[in-house]
Amino acid sequence: MKSPGRIYLIDDDELILSMLSRTLEKEGYEVRTDSGEKRLVEKILSWHPDVVLLDINVPGQNGMEVLKALKGDGTGEIEVIMLTADDTAETAVRAMKIGAWDYLTKPFNIDEVKIVIGNAIENLKLKKELEYLRKINSSLFESEFLGASKAKRELKERVERLAEARVSCILITGESGVGKEVIARNIHQMIHGAAASSSAPFIAVNCSALPDTLLESELFGYEKGAFTDARKSKKGLFEVAEGGTLLLDELGEMKLSLQSKLLRALEERVIRRVGGEEEIPVDVTVIATTNRDLALAVEKGEFRMDLYYRLNSFSVSVPALHEKDRRDDIPVLARYFLNAFAKEYNKPVEGFAPETEKLMMAYRWPGNVRELKNVVRGIVVLQNARTVMPEHLPLEVSGFTPHTATRGKGRQDRFVLTEAGVSLDELEKDLIIQALEIAGHNNTKAAKLLNISYDSFRYQLKKFNLK
Ligand SMILES: Nc1ncnc2c1ncn2[C@@H]1O[C@H](COP(=O)(O)OP(=O)(O)OP(=O)(O)O)[C@@H](O)[C@H]1O
Ligand SMILES: [Mg+2]
Repeated sequence: MKSPGRIYLIDDDELILSMLSRTLEKEGYEVRTDSGEKRLVEKILSWHPDVVLLDINVPGQNGMEVLKALKGDGTGEIEVIMLTADDTAETAVRAMKIGAWDYLTKPFNIDEVKIVIGNAIENLKLKKELEYLRKINSSLFESEFLGASKAKRELKERVERLAEARVSCILITGESGVGKEVIARNIHQMIHGAAASSSAPFIAVNCSALPDTLLESELFGYEKGAFTDARKSKKGLFEVAEGGTLLLDELGEMKLSLQSKLLRALEERVIRRVGGEEEIPVDVTVIATTNRDLALAVEKGEFRMDLYYRLNSFSVSVPALHEKDRRDDIPVLARYFLNAFAKEYNKPVEGFAPETEKLMMAYRWPGNVRELKNVVRGIVVLQNARTVMPEHLPLEVSGFTPHTATRGKGRQDRFVLTEAGVSLDELEKDLIIQALEIAGHNNTKAAKLLNISYDSFRYQLKKFNLK
């Protein structure tokens, strides 16, 4: 079993060390003890503990100095719990100010020791998760909105105007996978310059991923003592995003109570931490995205009307990929992804056959660009051809065409008419063949399935030379 954490114990009292280490080892922790004489900080750091229990009176050194050295770079990878002999609050408060997680007064209550360490470990875990989420958010800095369609050009113009105007909040709407986040990053870049050279933070939060109260304290921060676990005050993401962009993903899922707090932040450009009094000014571009119909949500009483109007005044609506004005993006994006994945996976594939592109243009792409990207990735990974042929496409994409008809229930509705065209005759013929198959070649039944008379059915059979 993996240990729940590594604990470094520092005290000059052998008895305390052995008592604590025995107890903690029983709990499954990995423990190292140290009487704290030489090169203490170095030794601690090289062992990479999660929690350090540090006697304030380490021999030969000032416990506070050691604490400062451990917390100094602000990495926050180690939590330090101070051990003190006296319970003068003053030393403890000083230690907490420097960044200690908590303190324990000798003689210890063993249960308390376990709880304090458990809390520290839990807190570290949360911190790491959050850190991780932020990192993946910022490393995937894909901000170029590719495409060649009319819709794309119009989007680009609108986005440029919004970025120039430096409006403080923007709403981006559109189906899942249309590229709302790409546009948000694009706006951020236009305002603050390219990622590498800019220090303006881009922070993304998914409003549907966190329970309400947690989302509130994530966004607005909290003061020490605001709730049971609030041992220290903490900045919210509004403050973390200061001078940059805060992306509120899936805002449509935010609960009403929190919506009013958000509205206040947007209108007055100040926030108040949970449990706090002070008004903290914030200078942040807030970009909200949603794939919900917010107007409808307002009607249903699930979204605040005032917040809706506030957001909606500067909004960008991203069309679905299959929409007429946007369909021309399909081949451009497909080729781009094909090249990118071919490089990434070191594959010889060079392009799509014209028939393949026709099929892709005709498909409905319910998952939009995300789906297109995944389909292309799948092809690159699985195929070794130089040219992508129709048969390399997943069935739902190549599904049905007049020429290579594969039949299945309810497939037609996935298709749209494109410039490439479709022959009505061929569609009809295909339906008649399907009806015959389903009806077990009983003409009467087949005619019923198609809701036409027996005579018309006979006529169709003759017309298409079918028996
Ligand atoms: N125009 C585009 N150019 C390049 N890549 C794009 C474009 N649009 C979307 N993508 C890619 O498609 C994927 C989905 O895009 P994105 O995350 O922006 O969608 P979304 O609209 O935020 O979706 P959801 O509502 O599900 O969060 C990402 O991998 C993104 O890089
Ligand atoms: Mg998104």
